[in-house]
Amino acid sequence: MNFIGIDLGTSAVKLLLMSEGGEILKIVSREYPIFFPKPGWSEQHPEDWYEQTIVGLGELLEGQDRSQVAGISFGGQMHGLVILDEKDQVIRPAILWNDGRTGAECDYLNQEIGKEKLSEYTANIAFAGFTAPKLLWLKKNEPENFQKIKKIMLPKDYLAYRLTGVHSTDYSDASGMLLLDVKNKKWSAQMCEICGISEDMLPRLFESYEKIGCVKPGVADQLGIGHNVVVAAGAGDNAAAAVGTGTVGDGQCNLSLGTSGTLFISSEKFLVDSQNALHAFAHADGHFHLMGCMLSAASCNKWWMEDILSTQDFNGEQAGIEKLGENTVFFLPYLMGERSPHNDPSARGAFIGMSMDTSRADMTQAVLEGVAFALRDSFEVARSQGIHISSTKICGGGAKSPLWKRMIANIFNIPVQVPAVEEGPSMGGAMLAAVACGVYGSVEEAAARIVKVVDEVRPEPELAARYEEKYRQFVKLYPALKKSYSEIYGE
Ligand code: XUL
Repeated sequence: MNFIGIDLGTSAVKLLLMSEGGEILKIVSREYPIFFPKPGWSEQHPEDWYEQTIVGLGELLEGQDRSQVAGISFGGQMHGLVILDEKDQVIRPAILWNDGRTGAECDYLNQEIGKEKLSEYTANIAFAGFTAPKLLWLKKNEPENFQKIKKIMLPKDYLAYRLTGVHSTDYSDASGMLLLDVKNKKWSAQMCEICGISEDMLPRLFESYEKIGCVKPGVADQLGIGHNVVVAAGAGDNAAAAVGTGTVGDGQCNLSLGTSGTLFISSEKFLVDSQNALHAFAHADGHFHLMGCMLSAASCNKWWMEDILSTQDFNGEQAGIEKLGENTVFFLPYLMGERSPHNDPSARGAFIGMSMDTSRADMTQAVLEGVAFALRDSFEVARSQGIHISSTKICGGGAKSPLWKRMIANIFNIPVQVPAVEEGPSMGGAMLAAVACGVYGSVEEAAARIVKVVDEVRPEPELAARYEEKYRQFVKLYPALKKSYSEIYGE
C-alpha cells in the first residue's frame, strides 16, 4: 500500500507519495499565485489550490502503480478563511494566515470581550491571522458576503471537501480558528455567538488520523485510483510537520523554517501559556502542543535574495558569510507584521546598524540571524513557562541551509537534529493517512518506525556565547521601534 501526503502551502502545493514502510517514492510541487490586494493583506483562490492539487496528483502518480494508493491526507496552511454559499460555491477569495487586516477586530476581541474570556473559551487570544477576527471583519466590511455563508472551513478542508464531498476539519487546524474550545475539543458556543455564526456553519470535527470518507468515484476515475481510497482529516501544516519530524508525544520540539517560522512543542497534557503569547492548540497525535509563529521566516531570505538582490544563488550568497556572532547589522524580520510573540500587525522589516563598510554578505547574514533571533523570542516565552527543551528537530525550505542550521543551534544553544526527510507537512500527511488505514496503530507508532534523524548540528560554546550577547542586543530593538511602527503603519 502507498499513501499520499498533500501539503497545501502558501506558495505551492507539495505532494508526496510514501510506501507503507515510510520510503518516499516521489515528490511533486505545483505553484499558485498569492494576491496582496492592499499592504498587509493576503489572499488566494481556493479553486487554484484544487486545480493545482489535481494536476499535481496526476504528475505524482505518473509511472506509479495507482492501484497501490490506499490513503490520502493533508498538512495545510492554517487559519485561512474559506467560505461557501448554499450551493457549496466559494463566496470570495480565501483570506490567509498572514493577512493583517483585522487589527480593529483583534482589539475588539482582546480588549472588549477580553483576553481572559477568550482564553477561557478557546485557550487562546486573538491574533490578526486567526479565523474568527476575519469573520468579524467580513461581517462589517462585506455584509453581503457574510450573509451568504453556509459553510466555513480552512484551506486543506476545502481540498478534502472537493475530494470527498464531506465538510470536515481536524482539531489541530480548528484550534487556530479561535472558534474551538481546545481543551474540551468542541466548538465554542460563546465564540460562535460573538462572531454571529451558527455552529452548523462549521465543519465536523475529527482527529487528524481519522477517516472522513473516500475519494469520490468521479475524482478517483479522473486520477486512475481505486474507489475505496481513504481520505483522513489531516492537520494544520505545523502539526503535520511535527508528525513528519517525529515531534509527537511529550516535550519534543520542532522548528519549521518555511514561509512562516514556527517553534512547536508537543505535550501529552493540555497546556496554556499564561501570557497567551504562544498558541495552545491540539496536536495531530491526539494530544496538544504550544506554538510560536513568526509570519515571515524563510520568506525574508527569499525576499532579500530574489526581490532585492535579484539572485537565485542562495548558497553562493551564504558562502561569503564568515563573521558569525560578530555582525553589527541587525534585521527585524517583520515583513508582514508579527504574530508571536509581539502580536503586532503594524510591525515592519528593518535593517539597523549599517556603516560605510557594511557588505552585502553582512546584510544577508543579518537576515538569516534576524529570523533565528525572532524564533528565539518564542523559545524564551516557552522557557519562561518552565518548559525545558534540550534539543530540536528542524524542517522546511530554510532547513536546507547548513549555515542557517548552525546559526540556530548556536542562537538557541541546543543541538538541532536533522531528520532524513525535510518535507515535514507532506510527510506528516502521508503518515496520518497510513494511520487512518490501520498500517500503524497510532501516530506515535508511525513516527517511531518511520522518522530517522540523520544529522545533529551541535552548538559551539564560544560562538553560542557571542550569539547570546547579540540576542540581548536584538531583543531591545523591537520595543524601541514599536511606537513608530504604530504611528507610521498602524490603521
Ligand atoms: C501557524 C501559521 C503558519 C501557517 C503557514 O499558526 O499561521 O505557520 O500555518 O502555512
